[in-house]
Formats: sequence, structure tokens, C-alpha cells
Amino acid sequence: MVFIAVGTPSRRGDGHADLSYVYGASKEIAEAVQGFTVVVTKSTVPVGTGDEVERIIRETNPAADVAVVSNPEFLREGAAISDFKRPDRIVVGIEDERAREVMNDVYRPLFLNAAPMLFTARRTSELIKYAANAFLAMKITFINEVADLCEMVGANVQDVARGIGLDNRIGAKFLHAGPGYGGSCFPKDTLALVKTAQDFGTPIRLVETTVAVNDQRKRAMARKVINACGGNVRGETIAVLGLTFKPNTDDMREAPSLSIIQALQDAGADVRAYDPEGMENARKLLDNVHYGRSPYDVAEGASALVIVTEWDAFRALDFDRIKQAMKQPIVVDLRNVYRREEMARHGFRYLTIGRPQEEILP
Ligand code: UGA
Repeated sequence: MVFIAVGTPSRRGDGHADLSYVYGASKEIAEAVQGFTVVVTKSTVPVGTGDEVERIIRETNPAADVAVVSNPEFLREGAAISDFKRPDRIVVGIEDERAREVMNDVYRPLFLNAAPMLFTARRTSELIKYAANAFLAMKITFINEVADLCEMVGANVQDVARGIGLDNRIGAKFLHAGPGYGGSCFPKDTLALVKTAQDFGTPIRLVETTVAVNDQRKRAMARKVINACGGNVRGETIAVLGLTFKPNTDDMREAPSLSIIQALQDAGADVRAYDPEGMENARKLLDNVHYGRSPYDVAEGASALVIVTEWDAFRALDFDRIKQAMKQPIVVDLRNVYRREEMARHGFRYLTIGRPQEEILP
């Protein structure tokens, strides 16, 4: 049995996945296999890749006796081991019945946790992975747009999320409104699904719109900060807390912080930023940012402090100390970490995502 897990294929300029590594691995496997071998693709690959892997193996070594299987992973960065041990489901796409028993054996140690094992056709399994990520991205985008509406009508998006999430048909997860989704998976996989669907003449408009709305949202968050500062940040210092696309990772890929900081710089602001893990990677992607040693360090002289990523380290900040360091006490919390009353007590103007916007001034 052999696993192909070459990481998530990157995107070529035309939006399609670059499968050269997957195909390269297939050739190497073809040259090495002896006896019946199950070849399992773990990487997120477009529909039909399993067919191509099988074709390459047979072409390279006509004597190879292989069953090519799709077994997508649904692990989250930073929670991969627990997600692996307690999966909601295990999806296995097979075309050769002999692979079923082998795959059942592979996952037997997890049966104690009663994870449902779903066997499907190979192309179906490949599509399940994209459909799952696209659906989650759509769910986040939905609540983000509802959050914008909440701000206009004076409703609270966290209560709306709870109110709809308690309905089992909807589910409570992935309903945290924020600055837009990022990372190496959702942006890439939504775009790949859009391209595949267009290629086959069956566009998935909901996902097309999700991609567009999410892209615009990231930059729009900068506008929120600028408005909080009275419409002009030229020459002002803005403190940014959190750079990675989510907490507990140093991953900066497609992080909302990138678009937000660039838009703030375009508007003439000086940006000071702090992140517990992401600063080394951020340095490669962002110019002219002053990286601080702590939240208190970056707050020095700032006209607004923006929480972009909800690291635990930002959940219990000493706001008296922050207020003393800042030029004016404005906090824009893009992850809804704090309670308005608490921030008002400390004398801050506090702006959030999708919560009633009446600002309690000190
Ligand atoms: C995602 C999926 O959750 C995994 O199931 C999948 O296996 C993985 O992609 C993949 O394809 O490899 P990941 O990218 O690690 O995992 O991160 P998530 O925890 O899903 O978060 C993605 C983005 O959505 C982050 O920017 C996060 O801040 C944002 N998000 C998430 C929200 O804005 N609101 C939420 O309620 C949840």
C-alpha cells in the first residue's frame, strides 16, 4: 500500500491545480510496485485526478497491479491530530473492490470512535472534498454578510448565529463572523471548484459569489478602521494584533491581515504589528511594517488598535496599559473577542463585527 500525499497542490496562474508533483509521484510508484498495491491519494486533487494517476501508473508499468483510491483528509491546520483521531467521517473513493478491505483495515484502529466510513466512487470522493470546503467557506461568507446587515439594523450577529446554529439542520460551527476566511485551503479550493464547474459548463454561482465577496471583504475591513479614525489615517499609526490567517499557526497564506495592512498603508497609515508566531513569515510578504515585541509595544502612539486574529494571547489584554500607550483609545475588533461594556469601562471606542454599533464613548 502506498500513499500519495504531496501536500495540497498549488494553483497555477489559470486557477487550476498544479498536479505535476502528484503525477511525478505516480510515475515513481509505478516503477517501484510489486504485487497487488493500493495507491491512496490524500492530497486535495480535482475530480478525475485518480483516473489520470491510474493511467500514468499503467502506462509506466503495464504489469503493475494497482487499485487507485481517493481518501481526502478533512484535517484543520493546528488541530490535525485530534481531527484525525476523531473524524466526523472517513471518505474513501474506490473503483476496485479489492481496495475496500485494505482501507477498512487501515482505519480499524479508529473504529472505537465510531467514525462512519463512507465508500463512494472515486470521482465522487474527490468532489466531496471540494464541496465540503466550499460549503464551509460559503457558510462563513453568509454569516459575514449577515453581520454587515446586523450592523445596519442594530442586531447582534453572535445571537443570530446561535439562533440559527441551534437548528441541527444548520449547525453551530463555522458561523463566527470575521474579516473573511483565509489560509491555504478555502481560497484555493473554492476557486478550483469554480473553475472545474465552469469547465464542465455547470457554473456554481453560489461559490463564485462566495469567492468574490470574501476577496472584497478583506480590504473592506481596512475601510472600517479608517472610518473609526474619522475617515483619514494619513500619517497616523495603526496597531495590528494578529497576522496569521487563524490562531495557533504561523501560516500567512491568504491571511486577511495582508489585504488589511496593504489597504491601510495605501491610505497613508504607518502600521505596527504583532503576532505570536507569524511575524517571520509576514516579513517576507509585507513591506514597511514595524514589528513589535508585544501588543503593548505596538500600541505605542497608535490612533487605533485592530484585532485581526483571535490568538489566546489577545483575549485578556491589560487595556489600561494599552490606553496609556495609545494616541487615542479606539479598538476595532474584527473577531468579536471582547464585551462592549468591558471596553466602555476602560474608556475605549470599540467597534466590532456585526454587533450593535452605538458607540459608548468614554
Ligand atoms: C480547512 C477545513 O476546515 C478542513 O476541514 C480541511 O481539511 C482543510 O481546510 C484542508 O482542506 O486542508 P483550515 O484551512 O486549516 O481547514 O482552517 P479552518 O479552521 O477551517 O479556518 C479557515 C478560515 O476560516 C480561517 O481564516 C478562519 O479564521 C476562518 N473562519 C473559520 C471564520 O472566519 N469563521 C468561522 O466560523 C470559521
